[in-house]
Amino acid sequence: MDEKELLRTVPIFSELTDDDIVSLARLSIRKHYAKDAVVFFENEEGDFFFMILDGRIKVTILGDDGREVILSLLGPGDFFGEMALLDNEPRSATAIAVEDSELLSLHRTDFQTVLSDKNSIATSLMRILSGRLRKANHQISTLALLDVYGRVARVIVDMAREEGRRLKDGRIAFRRATHQEIANRIGTTRETVTRMLKDLERQGLIHVEGKELVVQPDFEKVFD
Ligand code: CMP
Repeated sequence: MDEKELLRTVPIFSELTDDDIVSLARLSIRKHYAKDAVVFFENEEGDFFFMILDGRIKVTILGDDGREVILSLLGPGDFFGEMALLDNEPRSATAIAVEDSELLSLHRTDFQTVLSDKNSIATSLMRILSGRLRKANHQISTLALLDVYGRVARVIVDMAREEGRRLKDGRIAFRRATHQEIANRIGTTRETVTRMLKDLERQGLIHVEGKELVVQPDFEKVFD
């Protein structure tokens, strides 16, 4: 796919005319990030807005003691790096490629021009940022109100909703995250996650099938 076709796959640009897409493609820079490459660090000055064409980007906060909290995992069609451009503050988090990734970046001035010229982009940006705030609120309530067992169960429900595909028998399968990744989403240790997952498996609520985790059709009722 060329740049123009790729830009069409980014939802915030879906309402642009062909001419707009052509000029946007001229302004954006395509770059490959190998697995584990850092796109930028928290607290750096930031001048670029990024769109994900392929791969997955982890948005994370790294503690001084080496621990980390994963704020979000973003995939194709998602964007990031808008906050530093909107509020002129440093980067609010670190962005790391967790798979080989293909990104398109747009410089601050071009991002601002596109935003002020195109109402549809500003509206869809606000809609997506509201969705992120809702998700962050959900994460805050998970951390504040549930014990560690509840948090592990809830993160499974969330992953199944976000990434799951329904199998013919009604069960839901999704990418099996590492125990460390789950731990970093809910502020606990890898060992605790391993213990809790074994327990859920023993109860027949989840199953490991190859690279996927499979949950029962009524898993939400069981866990909620
Ligand atoms: P910026 O602050 O420029 O750099 C880090 C980026 O991570 C930020 O812009 C957002 O694009 C993204 N980000 C920060 N917090 C969240 C969150 N809670 N959910 C999803 N993305 C986020």
